[in-house]
Amino acid sequence: MKIIVTGGAGFIGGNFVYYELENHPEDEIICLDKLTYAGNMETLSKAMENPKFKFVKGDIADREFVYQLFESEKPDIIVNFAAESHVDRSIENPEIFLKTNVMGTQVLMDACRKYGISRYHQVSTDEVYGDLPLDRPDLFFTEDTPIHTSSPYSASKASADLLVLAYYRTYKLPVSITRCSNNYGPYHFPEKLIPLIISKALDDQPLPVYGKGENVRDWLYVEDHCAAIDLVMRKGKVGEVYNVGGHNEKTNLEVVKTILKQLDKPESLITYVTDRPGHDMRYAIDPTKIHRELGWLPKTKFDDGIKQTIDWYLNNKEWWQNILSGDYQNYYQKMYGNRISNAKQ
Ligand code: NAD
Ligand code: TYD
Repeated sequence: MKIIVTGGAGFIGGNFVYYELENHPEDEIICLDKLTYAGNMETLSKAMENPKFKFVKGDIADREFVYQLFESEKPDIIVNFAAESHVDRSIENPEIFLKTNVMGTQVLMDACRKYGISRYHQVSTDEVYGDLPLDRPDLFFTEDTPIHTSSPYSASKASADLLVLAYYRTYKLPVSITRCSNNYGPYHFPEKLIPLIISKALDDQPLPVYGKGENVRDWLYVEDHCAAIDLVMRKGKVGEVYNVGGHNEKTNLEVVKTILKQLDKPESLITYVTDRPGHDMRYAIDPTKIHRELGWLPKTKFDDGIKQTIDWYLNNKEWWQNILSGDYQNYYQKMYGNRISNAKQ
């Protein structure tokens, strides 16, 4: 089997490349990645030594390039991780989110139709369902929950999902979709909450918590997500959506305090900053379908996963310090400079 993994130089895609090389050594993996600010070849350095792995730099929205790649490689499966993935950046500049997340998905599926594949798998997010109220802990997202997006990011992911389902219905393209909750683990870009807090706390810097820190996310260890995608793309029903999550709901403040405790750093580093516009209150996944149909269950508990993640950041300082020394500094100043000076404490 030859598998194209788009966005494999990013957080989840990179972890997925390693998951596949380890669990399906018979398969060939081709990573297609544009290497945006979020793509990092250092993440793939060990994979590059594996003869079953190949890296190709390119844009999923570049039709000519994608068609050429399909023509020369004749892949069996496409799994699309490539995306602009950060909500805060989508609020600043939505356009690239539409280009990559929507148009890029269309180009990939057109290539699948033209050259023929056995499966196109779309990696989506629970954010397409919008949010749930904090005072209704009985409510969860199921696959039948209506799409109801909040941010330009989630709107672009939802648009892509609708297009994927349309290509199934109209052209019978063999597609599947997974919608997962927030991931954490190794190789997570340090602009997202968990790696941001770890890296800032290690440097004794203020830890920016949006609003009151009461928003709830449903955290899943990245390897459990990779296992779910692997199962769905190989054994999931064509044309179906599968929610992925492990009932690990935490408020942002709980997450930040857990990290501080592990690192033996004071809670006085917590700095409440201006809230994100349109900030979703609570995400919570009902993973019954993927469990019932495919037997998937998460293996890593949050308490263990967060320890492993912190250890990884402690043992791989070079990986994230290289990122922090680059262009990301300008981003941080632009996005947080004002917010932190307006901090309420
Ligand atoms: P990421 O930002 O870490 O990585 C995205 C990767 O895609 C990068 O390597 C980047 O270079 C590449 N890329 C961006 N635009 C591209 C383009 N036009 N052509 C080719 N490559 C391009 O993202 P992530 O957190 O690993 O998320 C991966 C996927 O999983 C996304 O589709 C995201 O919506 C979805 N998802 C993420 C989470 C999460 O918690 N991070 C949860 C659920 C779903
Ligand atoms: P994030 O990691 O950006 O993921 P998402 O917005 O896709 O859920 O943010 C997770 C939560 O943490 C979200 O409620 C926003 C909050 N947050 C902060 O409080 N401070 C920060 O600096 C960041 C990046 C996020």
